[in-house]
Amino acid sequence: SHEGIIDPIKNPESTFSQMARKGSHLVNLKRLNKEQRKQNKTNTQLANTAMGNTLGISNESTNDKSGEQSTDNIFHNELQPSQEDIQKQRQTLPAYKARGSLIPMIMNNQVAIIIGETGSGKTTQLPQILYEAGFCHDNTSIGITQPRRVAAMSVAKRVATEMNTPLGQKVGYSIRFEDQTSAETRIKFMTDGILLRETLLDPLLLKYNCIIIDEAHERSLNTDVLLGIFKNLLTKRKDIKLIITSATMNAAKFSKFFGNAPQFTIPGRTFPVQIIYTKSPVDDYVDSAVNEAVRIHMQTEVTSGDILIFMTGQEDIETTCESIKDRLTEVYAKKNGVGSFDEIDDIEIFPIYSALPPELQARIFHKLDHSKRKIVVATNIAETSLTIDGIKYVIDSGYSKLKVFNPRIGLDSLMITPISLANANQRSGRAGRTGPGIAYRLFTQESAEEDMYVQTIPEIQRTNLSNTILLLKSLDINDIVHFPFLDKPPLQTLLASLYELWFLGAIDNFGNLTSLGSQMSKFPLQASLSKVLIVASQNKCSEELLTIVSMLSVPQVFNRPKEREKEADQARGRFFVPRSDHLTLLNVYNQWKSNKFSSQWCEKNFLIYRSLARAHEIRRQLIKVMRENDIPLVSSGSDWNIVRRSICSGFAHQAAKVTGLRKYVNLRTGMAVELHPTSALYGLGDPPTSVVYHELLMTSKEYMCFVTAVDPFWLMEFGPLIYDIKRVKQYEDDCSTSLFGTSDDHEEDKVNHDFVDVKIEQFI
Ligand code: CDP
Ligand code: MG
Repeated sequence: SHEGIIDPIKNPESTFSQMARKGSHLVNLKRLNKEQRKQNKTNTQLANTAMGNTLGISNESTNDKSGEQSTDNIFHNELQPSQEDIQKQRQTLPAYKARGSLIPMIMNNQVAIIIGETGSGKTTQLPQILYEAGFCHDNTSIGITQPRRVAAMSVAKRVATEMNTPLGQKVGYSIRFEDQTSAETRIKFMTDGILLRETLLDPLLLKYNCIIIDEAHERSLNTDVLLGIFKNLLTKRKDIKLIITSATMNAAKFSKFFGNAPQFTIPGRTFPVQIIYTKSPVDDYVDSAVNEAVRIHMQTEVTSGDILIFMTGQEDIETTCESIKDRLTEVYAKKNGVGSFDEIDDIEIFPIYSALPPELQARIFHKLDHSKRKIVVATNIAETSLTIDGIKYVIDSGYSKLKVFNPRIGLDSLMITPISLANANQRSGRAGRTGPGIAYRLFTQESAEEDMYVQTIPEIQRTNLSNTILLLKSLDINDIVHFPFLDKPPLQTLLASLYELWFLGAIDNFGNLTSLGSQMSKFPLQASLSKVLIVASQNKCSEELLTIVSMLSVPQVFNRPKEREKEADQARGRFFVPRSDHLTLLNVYNQWKSNKFSSQWCEKNFLIYRSLARAHEIRRQLIKVMRENDIPLVSSGSDWNIVRRSICSGFAHQAAKVTGLRKYVNLRTGMAVELHPTSALYGLGDPPTSVVYHELLMTSKEYMCFVTAVDPFWLMEFGPLIYDIKRVKQYEDDCSTSLFGTSDDHEEDKVNHDFVDVKIEQFI
């Protein structure tokens, strides 16, 4: 996915751009600030965001500075509660108190909708209550899905603590590429994506006797698909219970979808929250949030309550944390001569976002001693998935990052977009959990009333559906248009996704799954990457591609600390394989391997050890999938041309042709794109004529990230219906010298040429 600002002019036809237009006032505002901030920060951020990359659902573009932070010695001043306290706290939760009415209701109905305020104990208590009521007889399990990875991990940990059992035994969790469960696991937290994949292996979900679809109001794509699948599954498994939990919004819709399933509202107390809007639009929401936080801290008693700030993502969050520290240090320097932030003893600042390492994430829940105030700076993860106790003040930037699909360019992007009113109300509500609170909204009342959507558009109506379609087709659900969706996806998106699958060869002209498509569906990866792995094994270079795909699946691997950018860039340059960022990643991994996977070596070479270690783990998981599906693991040795060709097989639809120095144009859409400054191809004097790229980063320009030079003939081979022979001949005329490999390669290309010629005659 890509960072960027929605531009309704560029993608006028997407559903989402209508939303952007509604909030266009807010959008334009943000754009200005972002540019200004960018200028101040030169290329640092650009480089950092580009190297953070995203596959599938849950990653964020990342600037992983925090990764380098030592985790030693960070728990000072944080109190660990005793088991007795934990039990007491648990028993005060409204969901626990309501167990007497909840259990009979669940017993007597196959489907139940449970509604409750955030923090009432739905996620942590429901599974425990059911477990205690004997729901896991005959070694069956309770499964609880979460739209977010972080929530699945953090809640599993909490429930394991409450049940006084090691995580991974009775209570476990499973997220993509990470399984913390065992044969004893009876309460299994997982992302909705994981349960969806489990339905492929076990369509009746026989190991569960109860599934809780948590946070259904979030309307994540996978949750929506699961709900549709359950519609059929419930008739085949009369004994399974389905519980859908939701914040107050949307509950009636779920009930109606499941034939008027009963709704139960957990009684709970919330306190009034005063809402304060800005009088005029703010110039920069980061600055304004920082001012507001500092003001609150200086003007109120520390004991009055903690502060929660909602930001869009890691980049904003880190800027906010840093600025608050700087500002407070200034203020305290004047007040009592403090020299650095560490000397300030009445405040702690905690960031929380999905790419933050788990041990740092867990800190936001720890209680501080009474002389300290907590400031938490969070993404919308703190809206409903995680509850932090003790918040009195909420500062709401009014934005969040959303995944948006533009069917015209066939692209998913992470966009900073105005939140909906429903989100704004959820955010404000976080201030009123333990007592009356105040929410500062960094937007005007008019823009809230006039520009904001009442509800966020469900993900299914704004993202690429290729993987969903592949999965449904693997489940023998061929008639996608008539699948029971809670809300129908736009036809245009369905068609664009079907087209992508057809282009990749995953479905045939009749829309049926091909054998390639069926193999592709076995991988928990985006369709293009699954295809690349399968083609690579035929091309006898799956070892290499496995590494590349794993490296593409983690947040950035190159570290670029402030003030050492030059050094870091030089270090990165030493790994460059001139014609390919993909091969550069392979090179990094291989060198790390030759250096015994050392973390010191990473540090010396400005590489983020944690990212590499994660890539290593992902690689291991993918090897398992390959073995299970008899896809051979073979190495091409030093033949890197075949590696590039395999990459081309999955990305021929994302190809671009050179138009000038570092300037390219997308061959299919005609969109102007540029090499990203961090690309290994950026410094080349003779830019390759044709390239494929892994993703686009949309900032002020459209940047291609992870680029590899390809032979135009490969494009014809893998995309004969898009790329015709005339265009390829034109290439050859355009370039006097060939920019690809040795003359031997060209012999090989001749063969392809003939092959393609025949094919094209057939289609024209
Ligand atoms: O799901 P719901 O929003 O209804 O509430 P929950 O997530 O079950 O949280 C219930 C309580 O457990 C809250 O007071 C949380 O602060 C607490 N909790 C915690 O202390 N640590 C966690 N990792 C998760 C929840
Ligand atoms: Mg919850």
